Amino acid sequence: MSGANSETVLVTGASSGIGRELAKCFAAEGSRLVLTARHTEALQSLANELRRTHQVEALVLTGDLARPETPERIFRELQGRGIVVDVLVNNAGFGVWGKFAELALSRQLEMVQVNITSLAQLTGLFLPGMAQRRRGGILNVASVAGFLPGPGMAVYYATKAWVLSFTEALAEELTGASVTVTALCPGPTATNFGNVAGADKTRMVRLARMSAAAVAVCGHRAFRKKQVLAVPGMRNRLLIFLARLAPRSIIRKTAGKFNGI
Ligand SMILES: NC(=O)c1ccc[n+]([C@@H]2O[C@H](COP(=O)([O-])OP(=O)(O)OC[C@H]3O[C@@H](n4cnc5c(N)ncnc54)[C@H](OP(=O)(O)O)[C@@H]3O)[C@@H](O)[C@H]2O)c1
Repeated sequence: MSGANSETVLVTGASSGIGRELAKCFAAEGSRLVLTARHTEALQSLANELRRTHQVEALVLTGDLARPETPERIFRELQGRGIVVDVLVNNAGFGVWGKFAELALSRQLEMVQVNITSLAQLTGLFLPGMAQRRRGGILNVASVAGFLPGPGMAVYYATKAWVLSFTEALAEELTGASVTVTALCPGPTATNFGNVAGADKTRMVRLARMSAAAVAVCGHRAFRKKQVLAVPGMRNRLLIFLARLAPRSIIRKTAGKFNGI
């Protein structure tokens, strides 16, 4: 694969929303893209757009990250093609709205698989090469939800707390390694997320005023500046600040109301 710069970027969840916009940010710099998600048509259409608009190479690899074998399959496929991934964008993820005890357990565990296990596996597969080459980095999409307990979306918030904690710890471990890790922590963003979560009527989704493009630009910029944390939007930064000060009992009650529980 060739591009205007010599960097290859793998984006998970590139078929819609924030992932799609992040792919555009990297393509605008001339990076080659490897795009993955389940919806092949949406990925192909993005790949065509990136080739046309930015004259970059874009490879589509369809895969379901709820299946435990997918991260390894993506890694081996790229190895087989001789493609070295410099930047990994772990963006794929989803939420499920409702009370934990009333939701299908299988769907909740699928969420843990996509949001946590696959992210950890992809990181474990691609990071050692980056560290060896002393080049590249990882952009993990966490959430403002990672700073809070989330009644009404208990597992989702907990998965994002995991991503946030994991990213911060990795960043510290990688000090001096010339490889950087960034956690992008968006608040409510206008994407397909609410539909997938079944949460379209909650205040969380009605307040989704930030565009996926604005969120992606913030995350991309922070990654390039080697920042560990990126929280797009003043309102989201204020929320995190207040959450640090307020008693936990008040935080979880407020988060529950926000999620319509
Ligand atoms: N929107 C928000 O309010 C918000 C706020 C904070 C954080 N986030 C996070 O931002 C990230 C992107 O979400 P989004 O808001 O852009 O929502 P979205 O438009 O629904 O996009 C989610 C992406 O993840 C992919 N995905 C979902 N399940 C997958 C699976 N099993 N295997 C492979 N790919 C899968 C989807 O692709 P396919 O369906 O084609 O597989 C899609 O490309 C997520 O990690 C989400 O938790 C979102």
